[in-house]
Amino acid sequence: MILTVVGARPQFIKAAALSRVLRKEQKEVLVHTGQHYDANMSEVFFTELDIPRPDYNLGIAGGSHAVMTARMLVALEEVMQKEKPDKVLVYGDTNSTLAAALAAVKLQIPLAHVEAGNRVGTLKNPEEVNRILTDHVSTWRFACVQSAMEELKKENLQNGAHLVGDPMFDAYLYYKDVSENRPLNDLFDLDGNALTLPRDFYYMTCHRQENTDDLNKLDQILQAMDSLDAPTVYPVHPRNRGDVIKLMGEKGYKQILFVQPVGYLSSIYMVSHAKQVVTDSGGVQREAFFAGVQCVSVLDFVCWPETMVDNRNQLSAPDKDRIIAALSKEMRIDPAYQPFGDGRACEKITSLLR
Ligand code: UD1
Ligand code: UDP
Repeated sequence: MILTVVGARPQFIKAAALSRVLRKEQKEVLVHTGQHYDANMSEVFFTELDIPRPDYNLGIAGGSHAVMTARMLVALEEVMQKEKPDKVLVYGDTNSTLAAALAAVKLQIPLAHVEAGNRVGTLKNPEEVNRILTDHVSTWRFACVQSAMEELKKENLQNGAHLVGDPMFDAYLYYKDVSENRPLNDLFDLDGNALTLPRDFYYMTCHRQENTDDLNKLDQILQAMDSLDAPTVYPVHPRNRGDVIKLMGEKGYKQILFVQPVGYLSSIYMVSHAKQVVTDSGGVQREAFFAGVQCVSVLDFVCWPETMVDNRNQLSAPDKDRIIAALSKEMRIDPAYQPFGDGRACEKITSLLR
């Protein structure tokens, strides 16, 4: 039996793609740490994407990194001791990932890490710490892209490393048609009023600690978006909802539709139909790439080097002029260039775990 631990929005999406395939041949126990808990950050994904109900929800969220991770570690150890899985599976780089990795390795349960080998080159990025530590205690290291395999090699972690492709790409391919053929009816402003998606729009997300801790950075990004030739739809992550409301009051942006977090189907629909995308999300920048929509990543570091070709995804500082300059560059798309695999990453992972 395999015990999978999820906790945050992007992990629900990856689990939706992998659990469907994995459960055809293995028993899976699904544990939700509770890290993301609002209905539109958690429940909506389970319902829309038909993810099996978690067998456990630990209800652990908030607090400092240490407090959250430590509480999860204790609770996950208890679950693992009770369930006695043969393997533990984790995704990505959140605090839920690290807590599960530590609990598993201390109990000597072999660990599978999906999205192994991603590196941004700075420990100032809290997720980098989670990725490095998780990779170092994993038995199976499933890399999405070639550059991640190379990073694993640099850290002498090539044993158990497999280039399988990106489960986010599998999910995108699986759900794309569904997202095109349904009404987009979960667009609500921050007061709960229903909104209609404009015909032409830009899509933006911004939630990283690095961008939200300093209100000036977020303001620069919003000013750039406010100066474009069409409105911007911005689903606001709960991390910075309070700050966004404060900035809205002070700055009175005219062209930005601040909305509550949407479900995955609406999110990939908007990524795919946007004029351009501006984000600090690892998931959204890949989805823009999958959809062939130009993206500007407002970050100091490259998360997904494979996307940074032909101006398809460019880095920008959180600076109005630089963001606008990046958006005005032309991109080129080579349809033969498919660095995220063939949409069968989940089958490969399942087969390797078998
Ligand atoms: C986490 C991950 C980040 C990932 C992001 C995906 C870590 C270190 N970071 O960041 O890698 O990109 O998830 O979205 O694990 N909150 C709510 N309601 C919710 C969820 C969160 O109000 O449903 C609040 C929390 O109480 C907390 C804040 O938002 O105060 C931040 O949440 P947290 O899970 O700590 O970090 P994220 O920014 O979501
Ligand atoms: N997403 C979503 N609703 C939103 C914003 C994003 O479903 O309101 C999706 C997005 O399309 C992508 C994933 O959430 O699939 C990315 O998650 P997030 O940006 O929270 O985390 P990251 O990828 O940065 O770790």
